[in-house]
Amino acid sequence: MPEGMSFEEAAALPVNYITAYMMLFDFGHLRPNQSILVHMAAGGVGIAATQLCKTVNDVTVFGTASASKHEVISQGGVTHPIDYRTRDYVEEIRKISPKGLDIVLDPLGGSDTHKGYNLLKPMGKLISYGAANMLAGQKKNLFAVAKTWYQQFSVHTLSLIQGNRSVCGFHLGYLDSESELIAQAMAVIMDLYKQGKIKPRIDSTYHLEQVGDAMRRMQERHNIGKIILTTEPMKEEEKKEEAKKDEEKKKDDKKKDDKKKEDKKKDEAKKEEKKEEKKKEETKKDDKKPEEKKEEDQERGELRGEKHCGCALCLCQRFGSGLSVCKCVCMRVL
Ligand SMILES: NC(=O)c1ccc[n+]([C@@H]2O[C@H](COP(=O)([O-])OP(=O)(O)OC[C@H]3O[C@@H](n4cnc5c(N)ncnc54)[C@H](OP(=O)(O)O)[C@@H]3O)[C@@H](O)[C@H]2O)c1
Repeated sequence: MPEGMSFEEAAALPVNYITAYMMLFDFGHLRPNQSILVHMAAGGVGIAATQLCKTVNDVTVFGTASASKHEVISQGGVTHPIDYRTRDYVEEIRKISPKGLDIVLDPLGGSDTHKGYNLLKPMGKLISYGAANMLAGQKKNLFAVAKTWYQQFSVHTLSLIQGNRSVCGFHLGYLDSESELIAQAMAVIMDLYKQGKIKPRIDSTYHLEQVGDAMRRMQERHNIGKIILTTEPMKEEEKKEEAKKDEEKKKDDKKKDDKKKEDKKKDEAKKEEKKEEKKKEETKKDDKKPEEKKEEDQERGELRGEKHCGCALCLCQRFGSGLSVCKCVCMRVL
């Protein structure tokens, strides 16, 4: 470990940076003035890829992430952050770079791989390294798995020839026998770290006892950068503090629940009250003298711009406010 590197940084560095480095430089041959799309730009690999792009001159980085994370990723080097939740990222990229992109890093799979491939310029490269679209929400979603599987991209080599494009796949987990390749990449990464050109971003650190909280943060997609689990046992004081927080959280949750229930009750009571009032009004109306009722209906109709002939057959007057035009059946011209 180089001087000045924390254990947290050391844990955050290898997988993210080796993955990003090998995709960008071994497959991608990233060169100055090129443009690249980095999905999940606020994630561990996304941040690593952005920082590595910045080691090459004038590389334009398009990065997709939730809007709340844009400030951080812009500061980290993303040239054009795109909120993929509210915008069509293909349209946004085409507006800025009508010719398309040189490299697309794709951890999503499914329909996003098609979009990425179609965004490539001639001689462009799509590097697929995940299928995150199969995970939707916090629970298992077989529909999302099936949909992503069904929409998975496949290409005929003949269309690759005509398209002048390349498609690559990367999985660090299946490169364990290539220790020399990995060592080479790691040596360059360490050098860049020492020069201060790259620095892992630690989102948060949790003790093993807090693994549930760490998982929740990741699952709810709140992290920007890496979540670290430390094996160092929690100090007694911290444990007490944690227990206190848990207790307070439970109380808070209970309060919120109670308030929700109370609000619901109030709403229901209000609805009931309104119903009662309506009923009362209706009975009052029925109790009115026919003459009074007739006058009232006529007034109401006139307010709405209706005209009533006033004869006994006029349905407007007989049924009152329910009709918006005079339905008089006496055929009298008004
Ligand atoms: N092939 C390999 O060798 C290799 C190596 C490492 C990682 N990976 C893959 O690369 C991807 C990124 O890893 P990471 O460690 O950078 O992730 P991470 O740090 O946990 O970042 C995840 C972030 O990506 C965004 N995101 C967008 N679409 C998502 C989706 N469908 N599911 C979950 N998150 C989504 C979320 O941020 P927003 O708020 O912006 O939506 C989320 O907070 C993962 O799919 C991982 O499996 C592959």
